[in-house]
Amino acid sequence: MVFDPAVSLEQTFSPPADSVLWRKDFLMGVATAAYQIEGAATEDGRLPSIWDTFSATPGKVLAGDTGAVACDHYHRWADDVEMMASLNVGAYRLSISWPRVMDAAGRPNEKGIAFYRQLLTALRAKGLKTWVTLYHWDLPQHLEDQGGWVNRATAYRFAEYADLMSRELAGLVDSWGTLNEPWCSAMHGYGTGHHAPGKQDVKLATQAMHHLLLAHGLAVRHLRANDPGSLVGLVTNVGRGTTNGDTDADRHAAWQFELQHNNWIFDPLLKKEYPAALWELWPGAEPAMEQGDFDIIAEPMDFIGINYYFRTNVVSDGANGYREVPLEGVERTQMGWEVYPEGLRHLLVKFHQDYANLPPVYITENGTASDDKVIDGEVNDRARISFLNRHLAAVDAAVKQGVDIRGYFIWSLMDNFEWAFGYERRFGIIHVDYATQKRTPKRSAQLVRQFLAERAAR
Ligand code: FCB
Repeated sequence: MVFDPAVSLEQTFSPPADSVLWRKDFLMGVATAAYQIEGAATEDGRLPSIWDTFSATPGKVLAGDTGAVACDHYHRWADDVEMMASLNVGAYRLSISWPRVMDAAGRPNEKGIAFYRQLLTALRAKGLKTWVTLYHWDLPQHLEDQGGWVNRATAYRFAEYADLMSRELAGLVDSWGTLNEPWCSAMHGYGTGHHAPGKQDVKLATQAMHHLLLAHGLAVRHLRANDPGSLVGLVTNVGRGTTNGDTDADRHAAWQFELQHNNWIFDPLLKKEYPAALWELWPGAEPAMEQGDFDIIAEPMDFIGINYYFRTNVVSDGANGYREVPLEGVERTQMGWEVYPEGLRHLLVKFHQDYANLPPVYITENGTASDDKVIDGEVNDRARISFLNRHLAAVDAAVKQGVDIRGYFIWSLMDNFEWAFGYERRFGIIHVDYATQKRTPKRSAQLVRQFLAERAAR
């Protein structure tokens, strides 16, 4: 499909001339995660992960969907790389499936490692930068059976995994991300129970968070030692919380929301402490720690990856916390998430102001789900185009306010297994027909391709 300047603004990518997006060194990429696309859940020695167990448990995932086949990327990776390269993007963010590359005794699984080696080699050959996340939620089930992230030993198992991967794949990775969204792993995994392993106790969540962050710091040391040419960082989701209430308690509630979504992770990484106010929100939930843990956790990073999706409206719960009250009449995505680009700008500027040692920022995920259908061979995903335009404008605005932002990854390359929502929610710029595995670039993908070709030609 060709770029048509006559269509409405909502259907084009036309950043203003002074936008950072036109800079050739502003990295534009697409992102996925292993469990969401690979399938081949029992092939070549892959062990079960907590998401295999969780999705096989009735009632946990919409429509009983699982990642057993997903986008069958494990078999179709070569075509998928071609497809990505045709979009003219500069980078691909993927994750490694831990249970694919190590056995229960911690020995390497050569077949699993070979899969990633060939994939990374092919991406490099196409000129794509490789952004690898080590942990995008698929903990080996045998580690969960020993307590999972609530068990301190898991942090050391993760360090061994990071050590092995960075020795095996050294030279093929442009950027290592240790964890994806530790907030979700800790809170949804062990607090709300919405995600695997489905535990529901805030004390377990805070303990899990501490071990996740410890795992991150331990891993950073191995990654730097084994693959010194690569960037090293962590990817975190961030939350914008506001209130439509008018009492001080409501404003405090919105502050608490951001404290527990953002500062809970940023403070230990960048200030070597947890914010004390967390333990007012969650009395008695302070995790067990050991001397020296914060020195490990706060290992300097080359980048921080930020994933942003929506804003949450909260009011005081009348006690020591907050409760969410969805706003009426706002624009929402297929996920029910509010479209709120201003929240992204606001948070980026706030982090820049609050943390003098904030590393360079990459937006490692941003995107939207819509109920996209192929009609006459095309998918006109207007809502996504509009969403991306407005969020990219927010990123540009933050850059103009002084934030060091170096890249942006669209979530996602293609429709995939959206965790507890299964295959119904479509985040891709490429449509996937799960019955045939046919990939169809949506209009958003066409426009990204067009824009990046135009940028390259300048
Ligand atoms: C993020 C996850 C990613 C994807 C998006 C929609 O929280 O990191 O895997 O599911 O949400």
